[in-house]
Amino acid sequence: MDSQIYGAFGILFLIFHLTPPAATSAPINSNSVLVALLDSHYTELSELVEKALLLQTLEEAVSHHNITIFAPNNEALERQLDPEFKRFLLQPGNLKSLQNLLLFHVIPYRVGSEDWPGEGSGSEGHYETLCNEENENHLRLVRENSGQKVVGGSAILARPDDVVRHDGLIHGIERVLVPRLVQEEFNRRRSLTSIAAVLPEGAPVVDPRTNRLKKPVAPVPVGAPPVLPVYDAMAPGPSLAPAPAPGPGGPRHHFDGASQVKDFIQTLLHYGGYNELADILVNLTALATEMGKLVSEGYVLTVLAPNDEAMAKLTADQLSEPGASEQIIYYHLIPEYQTEESMYNSVRRFGKVQYDTLRLPHKVVAEEADGSVKFGSGEESGYLFDPDIYTDGRISVQGIDGVLFPVEEAVGTPAGKVAQLPPAKVVAKQNRGKLLEVACSILGAFGKHSQFTSCH
Ligand SMILES: *[C@@H]1O[C@H](CO)[C@@H](O)[C@H](O)[C@H]1NC(C)=O
Ligand SMILES: *[C@@H]1O[C@H](CO)[C@@H](O)[C@H](O)[C@H]1NC(C)=O
Repeated sequence: MDSQIYGAFGILFLIFHLTPPAATSAPINSNSVLVALLDSHYTELSELVEKALLLQTLEEAVSHHNITIFAPNNEALERQLDPEFKRFLLQPGNLKSLQNLLLFHVIPYRVGSEDWPGEGSGSEGHYETLCNEENENHLRLVRENSGQKVVGGSAILARPDDVVRHDGLIHGIERVLVPRLVQEEFNRRRSLTSIAAVLPEGAPVVDPRTNRLKKPVAPVPVGAPPVLPVYDAMAPGPSLAPAPAPGPGGPRHHFDGASQVKDFIQTLLHYGGYNELADILVNLTALATEMGKLVSEGYVLTVLAPNDEAMAKLTADQLSEPGASEQIIYYHLIPEYQTEESMYNSVRRFGKVQYDTLRLPHKVVAEEADGSVKFGSGEESGYLFDPDIYTDGRISVQGIDGVLFPVEEAVGTPAGKVAQLPPAKVVAKQNRGKLLEVACSILGAFGKHSQFTSCH
């Protein structure tokens, strides 16, 4: 009987899942707390959010205000929840209950641990949740005398500020918050009156090696990204980025960014079909150095790499203005680490996602198209063509078959001229030799000379 239910549910789920999201919806920002949730270690919770078809509701919420998500960890959702209660939640007929339960974990305010009520003892704050159907629709935020922050009466903030984004944040908690109406519905279904949906506190976990109680995990993960936004770390340039603020403590030098940049340029050359971009990167030493510097300081980058065919379509005029190549490349650099999988998952879930680029303030929009990811819009778009050409955890290179331009420039302003220019003049072949010459000399300086047969 259970398997029947799950079977039916699976099919239902599949139908919803395969229905493409409304194409008209505004793109969600790739650094939204929602995208972060789906990519986070709260995998059980994000699966439930998807199953409950709540993404649109939550998108709506973050488009109007910040949200704070109290995210039960996987342990709480997998093992501490009464199996029968969990079965109840997953039955298709109880979708409403599942939605209510999940919405009860979200408040439409930004309450970081800094803003937590009650610096002194005894005080507390009450916040409405997104679970509007609940009569007692509020969560109590308390700071106990011990200093511990507690939500909903019993859930300790085990990982405060675990994920922080511009439109909200996630606190990790170790148990599920059950709104009364869901509890009552569950009880009604079972025709029983007094069942606690949540098992008593989980037994303390003992570390088998040391035979001692396991300490809670440190809230700030090692290798966490730098605190300042990437733009603050960028060198100032013409209309590229604001002048940098000096970073606290200076560069962290955890990573050898320069050699990672060299590696990926080398990979592009070996991969084939991306020589033009590789050449430009080698030619524009300042840009490559800048990328290396950012990576050294702990920032991550995704390069949308136009292939040679796409680059060949650039007109000489498009490249003629001073700094044009830099501008073009900066628009193809996303200050996030994205892989084919993560981008495809995002566009499949949200329809349209917009990524920041290093060419401020322009963003690049991605959407699902033909089972792939399409960047940009209209004629100036490119498909994800060669996924994951290079991925080392800090730099990701994704091959695309078009050169992208910010949408805003298609109307007015100098670059607007671009649109009226005669199309597709092949510039690639002509300056090939010159480019390679420079490429080789610079790579020679990098000590990689012998690796490029085309240099001889
Ligand atoms: C979310 O919070 C940030 C930081 O407090 C604020 O700058 C931003 O305007 C807020 N966004 C919305 C939609 O209220
Ligand atoms: C390469 O650099 C040289 C010197 O700065 C410049 O004259 C040339 O136009 C550059 N080529 C490309 C394709 O950017």
